[in-house]
Amino acid sequence: MTRHDGYDTPAEIADALVRCVSRDEITTVADFAAGGGALLHAARLRWPSAEVVACDADRSCVRLLRATYPKSAVSCVDFLSERSRMASTVFRGRTGVPLILLNPPFTCRGARTEQVSFGTMQVNCSVALAFVLTAVSYMTEDGQLVAVLPQGSLRSSKDATGWGLLRSLFDVEIHQNLHCRAFSGAVVHTSVVSFKKRARATLKLAKRTTNNSGASAAPAVEIIRGKIQLHNARLVRSGVPLIHSTELRDGRVQITSRHVASSTRSTIRGPAVLLPRVGTPCKQKVAVLSSSVEIALSDCVIALRCATDHHAEDVAALLRGDRWTDVAALYGGTCARYVRVAVLQDWLTGNGIKTEEFGPISVPISSTAAIDERAASPLFSASAMAHRAGSTERPHAIRRYR
Ligand SMILES: C[S@@+](CC[C@H](N)C(=O)[O-])C[C@H]1O[C@@H](n2cnc3c(N)ncnc32)[C@H](O)[C@@H]1O
Repeated sequence: MTRHDGYDTPAEIADALVRCVSRDEITTVADFAAGGGALLHAARLRWPSAEVVACDADRSCVRLLRATYPKSAVSCVDFLSERSRMASTVFRGRTGVPLILLNPPFTCRGARTEQVSFGTMQVNCSVALAFVLTAVSYMTEDGQLVAVLPQGSLRSSKDATGWGLLRSLFDVEIHQNLHCRAFSGAVVHTSVVSFKKRARATLKLAKRTTNNSGASAAPAVEIIRGKIQLHNARLVRSGVPLIHSTELRDGRVQITSRHVASSTRSTIRGPAVLLPRVGTPCKQKVAVLSSSVEIALSDCVIALRCATDHHAEDVAALLRGDRWTDVAALYGGTCARYVRVAVLQDWLTGNGIKTEEFGPISVPISSTAAIDERAASPLFSASAMAHRAGSTERPHAIRRYR
């Protein structure tokens, strides 16, 4: 196999990946697209006695790696081929590795996708995410994977299912956005992303809304995209306050004197969480709209309508909480940043807010929707994944309006 996407990681970026590792002691470090070994080299500077596990599809890279790590497990493997992995002593019979570092190939020509196995599921995704989805199954329960990934993957609909699955099983943290010219010879927006298995995939949100019998009594979340263009709005003297992203401040909705006529197409009542659809993401703009307050939404605002004020506070806390960096990364676009409703929906689904069908304006139940995050069983056992895939539990629902 010829070398595909051979953009080796500069030393300072390799060092940045290693600095994301929370554990002081590492016994084994793996790189499954090891190339010239830049990431392994940075890891050995921090943990000189760590055992090295490496593979690459390119023979010349493997020769070099073998010369550098003569006593280590190094093989020429097409990592995305199960057959190739199983034919290699690097993978056959291998138990988990506590640290995996990756700068996988990114290039996906056209609309091409990879299909990878994840537990009992088959997932279509980009080549970069296929590396992550495959690699996490070689991680120990308390392990960590740190990867350089294209920012486009975090937002693309192609990778939404893969991210939904990963976020439901791992704590995903975006540590750093790298400069678009960080890799010599390439112009690409990338981020350093870390994955750690959740000890118990339990969400506060899910806990609060579960009744005593253990059955879910969770309310619905409806995603509503604002429709009114500010420059076309027909303002009236008395009507419903028109809320644009400028009216979202300090976590609250600041009611202004700009009013439009009430209409079922563009007005909603709280309780809801409002957030900008367009603009630089900012957690102070994730605002709670109290119950019974009626407003109209500008086309730059998205509402997540909730069942109770308490529920809205929970959803707002989830968005503004320790996964805020992930939420901010959902906003794409190079000039004006924006978030797509489908991308936001996937993020909510991946974070425990499940979907169900609602008559003619329904969204299909996604493959991520049935994952029961509260199951604490081993992540990749066939029975655990089959249980998740077949779960009939129906807690939060997301209803989407275009
Ligand atoms: C961006 S380079 C990263 C190299 C190294 N890890 C680093 O950070 O400097 C990506 C590497 O992935 C390898 N690669 C591409 N497709 C692969 C595959 N299917 N299986 C294993 N390695 C692959 C390429 O040969 C290349 O060395």
